[in-house]
Amino acid sequence: MLATGSTMLPVYALLREAGLDLDFSLVKTFNLDEYYPGNQFREFMNAQLFEHVNIDAANVHFPTVDYDEVIAAAGGIDLCILGIGVNGHIAFNEPGSSADSRTRVVELDESTRVRNSKLNNGVDIPQQAISVGVATILDCKKIVVLANGADKTSAVHEARYSDISDKCPASFLQTHADVTWLVS
Ligand code: GLP
Repeated sequence: MLATGSTMLPVYALLREAGLDLDFSLVKTFNLDEYYPGNQFREFMNAQLFEHVNIDAANVHFPTVDYDEVIAAAGGIDLCILGIGVNGHIAFNEPGSSADSRTRVVELDESTRVRNSKLNNGVDIPQQAISVGVATILDCKKIVVLANGADKTSAVHEARYSDISDKCPASFLQTHADVTWLVS
């Protein structure tokens, strides 16, 4: 399962550099989220990764209302690569998202919209998105969370060491048996 966002840019750059040495022909990808309405994250993924590797377009997936069933039918997710929001969101599970949430249309926090607009040359960000749920993420066999920059320090600390609470959806990752945090 794949994340978008600024944190992922170096990851996709490394995959592009590895280029022809990597075989994506049997890889199935499921992105975490997408604006609703919108296709910005699909365009991001096309530009950053999919146009540069031999992935089969039929194996590329973005959230739909039946996403959890589609994922289950594909055999589940082996690896989930996550970023974390400044407010502790994972995918677009904003504060208040429950541990048993599944793929659904969500309301974006104003702080998320403002930040993501700034990171994208001021483009207007929709008020809603379609996002996998916390439970969809916790079903993944292995989870890697990437975080960098001083503005993530507080969210990372809360996620890893505070009580598990929907105030910081990333704190639900404490209940998963195989999470690796890569923080810089
Ligand atoms: C975004 C995405 C997340 C992403 C997170 C961090 O809004 N919905 O999937 O991981 O927020 O974004 P960034 O890496 O730009 O800080």
